[in-house]
Amino acid sequence: RFWRLHKFQRQHMDPEHLTTNNTQYCNLMMKARNMTKGICKPVNTFIHEPKEIVDAVCQEANITCKNGQPNCHQSSLPLNLTHCRQTGASKYPNCQYRASYLTKQIIVACEGKVYVPVHFDAYV
Ligand code: C5P
Repeated sequence: RFWRLHKFQRQHMDPEHLTTNNTQYCNLMMKARNMTKGICKPVNTFIHEPKEIVDAVCQEANITCKNGQPNCHQSSLPLNLTHCRQTGASKYPNCQYRASYLTKQIIVACEGKVYVPVHFDAYV
């Protein structure tokens, strides 16, 4: 369980960077956050908000996750996001991504005694 929350932090949290129109953001970040090892992870969303804001999403009402589990939660407010999607020309190990800058509500799955996000389910 400990590793799952660290995995969420590694794959999805980036409070330091402001949402900008940087076409290299995904290429750099997907690599820096170890999502281009073995395969190019096809899609991944980064959240540009403080950890407290994202952790607090777990206090919203329960909703059903895509996999049918009941431990998902949707942010009441839209958050600043970068969605990374692998391009058609991308070929492992040269993983190439297109970045989309979005402000959307997020849905995360939460777990633990300290109930925090462990999985990014979707944005809506
Ligand atoms: O939706 P799917 O099960 O294909 O998602 C697989 C993984 O892709 C998720 O666990 C999540 O890490 C990532 N993802 C994401 N942002 C999305 C959809 C999926 O980061 N909007």
